[in-house]
Amino acid sequence: MTLDHVFVSFEGELANVANEPALVQLKARYLGREGVVTRLRKDIDFNALSPEEKRSFGQNFNDLKTRVEQAIEAAAARFAESVVETVDFDRTLPGTDRRLGAIHPIISTQIEVEDLLRSMGFQVYAGDEAVSEFENFDALNIPGDHPARDMQDTFWLENGMVLRTHTSSMQNRAMRALGVPVRAIFPGRCFRNEATDITHENTFYQLEGLMVDKDVSVANLIGVMRELLSGVFRRDIEVRLRPGFFPFVEPGFELDFKTTLNGVERWIELMPCGMIHPAVLRNAGVDPDVYSGFAFGLGLTRLAMLKYGVSDVRLFNKGDLRFYEQFRATL
Ligand code: DAH
Repeated sequence: MTLDHVFVSFEGELANVANEPALVQLKARYLGREGVVTRLRKDIDFNALSPEEKRSFGQNFNDLKTRVEQAIEAAAARFAESVVETVDFDRTLPGTDRRLGAIHPIISTQIEVEDLLRSMGFQVYAGDEAVSEFENFDALNIPGDHPARDMQDTFWLENGMVLRTHTSSMQNRAMRALGVPVRAIFPGRCFRNEATDITHENTFYQLEGLMVDKDVSVANLIGVMRELLSGVFRRDIEVRLRPGFFPFVEPGFELDFKTTLNGVERWIELMPCGMIHPAVLRNAGVDPDVYSGFAFGLGLTRLAMLKYGVSDVRLFNKGDLRFYEQFRATL
């Protein structure tokens, strides 16, 4: 084959090359160590050529090699361009994110509190968000004319039920369903007709708990609360009780815990609690002369705010992914 023939056959093959791998193969076939072009030079018997013929071959050979190389480079450049053109998305955008979900910070707090209380023998009793007026109020020693009702602006349903204003509404049902002695907790959503601001929401989470048995005292209440809070905050927690009024406990308390904020030690009000009022036990068919118990109403939303340093309660329900995504690794 003469040099010219080689180029003609190369061009013919190049015209059929449809993609980059085929081009790479073509290049190897012509320019590789055993390639068609390379062999032209290897195979020629230079001794049989006159000096003039040698020079002429050398020029033609180099010329052929350059043309083949250039044609391959040009084709490679065309493939590279066409790849960019046929991609139907913007390759300069950042890579796609797998968008793993996150557990809502209130729910992860709830799970943690449930685990801690379960380890102390409490069972989780699922409740309803719509409850009877009796369960939400009367059973808890809050009759219709009691001023305590004014503190909870309630959503009434047309069928006379209410969206529970507190998880205390599960106390009566739980004691009836589970009997005594009992240790149970009832986590869940509560609703009040609130004017919302950074500390008030119309929808919030509480976790109510009660323990009823013979000889249950305030000491048991303090012991369980200390153990619980030390678990939540992962250090020894000191608590104190102040008197607080709630119609369904007697005595009633506000439980504070000690913490250091901005370098200053202070008491933070965390949860109301108390010894279950005899009338509440009686309403659930429990004899207060035999049994006693304590109850507590943990504000899960408030606890999550303290735990994660969230300053505006409305962020929890707002649906802003920038907020939720910060909690991806919390469980
Ligand atoms: N249910 C009360 C509220 O939401 C909180 C509460 C107070 C619960 C005292 C209790 C308790 O169990 O003992 O305002």
